[in-house]
Amino acid sequence: MQLKITDLHQTFEKGTVNENHVLKGIDFSMAAGEFVTIIGGNGAGKSTFLNSIAGTLPMETGSIFLNGENITKHSVTKRAKKISRVFQDPKLGTAVRLTVEENLALALKRGQRRGFGAGVKKKNRAFFKEQLAQLNLNLENRLDSEIGLLSGGQRQAITLLMATLQRPELILLDEHTAALDPKTSITVMELTKKLIAENQLTAFMVTHNMEDAIRYGNRLIMLHQGQIAVDLTESEKADLTVPQLMELFQKNSGEKLQDDALLLA
Ligand SMILES: Nc1ncnc2c1ncn2[C@@H]1O[C@H](COP(=O)(O)OP(=O)(O)O)[C@@H](O)[C@H]1O
Ligand SMILES: [Mg+2]
Repeated sequence: MQLKITDLHQTFEKGTVNENHVLKGIDFSMAAGEFVTIIGGNGAGKSTFLNSIAGTLPMETGSIFLNGENITKHSVTKRAKKISRVFQDPKLGTAVRLTVEENLALALKRGQRRGFGAGVKKKNRAFFKEQLAQLNLNLENRLDSEIGLLSGGQRQAITLLMATLQRPELILLDEHTAALDPKTSITVMELTKKLIAENQLTAFMVTHNMEDAIRYGNRLIMLHQGQIAVDLTESEKADLTVPQLMELFQKNSGEKLQDDALLLA
């Protein structure tokens, strides 16, 4: 879906010595089907930006439109019918004591009123199996396993599946692979790409991994000092290398950017 944000300001601890003006009049729009990656230093306000879109943080000033509808005053719950989120911590996306099947059923039920009869349950089980098989993580036979018994990567893969099951209008990913080991992170990123493409989702992904920011999505923005400092199109970022992106960041911010991918290399 189309997203438009105008003049977004966010200030924490306003009027105190610790006043922190994090977002300073952001104007941003993205077209339906765009997959935008966001980078920026620690504390640049990336999560604050996403929280403002999801509504967990009321906007100090500014407006937000989804497909032309002004949703600035809509509650988190109301927005959640259209916007799904995946966080860094795999524990946040799933209910630990419930089984894989129960978690998926909850995701499917989101926004629906009626409960599931036995017939529906059986049908859903087959559907969940089929969905899990597509992850290629051998999770299709784990429907009865408690989520808490799965690895972080497996949980994050299921969280992604849950976040896309109802085909949200917008999916917000906040460093959702940052807590995973490098190999699992690649698996989950590839899965992210696949689910976004297959469901033709509009997506917004925060990452501290420059390589991922370049490789995935069709647009890259850089947040710095409360503003969007760099906004690259798909073709502009297509041939970009990580050192070039770091250089671009330094040129625009005068600061060095930490990059885990480089530190690990
Ligand atoms: N709820 C809050 N209360 C006070 N300060 C906050 C709150 N949330 C974030 N901040 C501060 O705002 C700045 C931006 O935070 P955040 O959006 O989480 O950055 P990023 O995700 O880019 O690392 C940081 O300095 C952070 O400490
Ligand atoms: Mg953050």
